[in-house]
Amino acid sequence: MEVILNTNLEGLKLVGRGKVRDIYDLGENLLIVTTDRISAFDVIMPNGIPYKGYVLTQLSKFWFKHTEDIIENHLITANVDEMPEEVKKHKAILDGRTMMVKKAKPFPIECVVRGYLSGSGWKDYKATGTLCGIKLRDGMLESEKFDEPIFTPATKEELGKHDENISFERMCEIVGKETGEKLKNYAISVYKRALSIAEKNGIIIADTKMEFGLYNGKIILIDEVLTPDSSRFWFKKLYQPGKPQESMDKQFLRNYLETLDWNKTAPGPILPDYIVEQTSKRYIEIMEILTK
Ligand SMILES: Nc1ncnc2c1ncn2[C@@H]1O[C@H](COP(=O)(O)OP(=O)(O)OP(=O)(O)O)[C@@H](O)[C@H]1O
Ligand SMILES: [Mg+2]
Repeated sequence: MEVILNTNLEGLKLVGRGKVRDIYDLGENLLIVTTDRISAFDVIMPNGIPYKGYVLTQLSKFWFKHTEDIIENHLITANVDEMPEEVKKHKAILDGRTMMVKKAKPFPIECVVRGYLSGSGWKDYKATGTLCGIKLRDGMLESEKFDEPIFTPATKEELGKHDENISFERMCEIVGKETGEKLKNYAISVYKRALSIAEKNGIIIADTKMEFGLYNGKIILIDEVLTPDSSRFWFKKLYQPGKPQESMDKQFLRNYLETLDWNKTAPGPILPDYIVEQTSKRYIEIMEILTK
């Protein structure tokens, strides 16, 4: 599979490029093309990661299917043969990395659910004893499991800016109290379902973020779900609280980037081959484990 960094699909109307996805307008629906771009610290790296777009698409598809009884999602089809003619023409590029989806109005919120104390959450707790303003019990260990998953929303910022953690109350001011409650409950339910499925395959989902949108007056799950871009995956058999965990996701790249003298602003550094290959390998492996 060829590495795709950017698409310019002739005959289709490009309406946006996120850090990872190119979005085309199909009139009533949208076409989401997941490229092989990778971002870290909100900066897009110059290298593509082989098979990444494929992995993210297949995993999202898997999770959409396994959560559709909890909440409707945006997926119409991931089969290019079922898409309009002008899309089919580009099948060679699009196959396996594309979804035709319902055009929703995204809520400007990243719905983050954490089951374990890790990453920025651990840093926050160490410094303040709280997690995004929520008081936690004393003496928690790094990577320790919470009694119940914790919802920590963030604002969704434009390209180039960092998402910002906000309180649940602030989120409710933005989307309304009733919607805020619903998003929180959906996000936690989706996380819990995914955790129980992943655990059967020996994987812990430490945390994840999802996006919701409004479609025909209803809240639906959009974008990507429970991928190694949006989640932290750990091996259950290696899990040991009290330290950072070996993870099967973007953390591998972040750890490498932390060793560099780079100020975390664009442009990102050119990645060495072994980092690209290892990252690709991890993305493929986690897909195979979870979807088996
Ligand atoms: N069904 C949908 N309707 C409307 N917009 C959508 C839908 N699904 C996803 N989107 C939007 O498409 C974009 C996807 O691009 P991408 O995932 O590359 O974005 P990003 O938000 O820049 O990065 P990141 O996910 O790393 O924060 C997001 O802005 C998302 O809100
Ligand atoms: Mg996104």
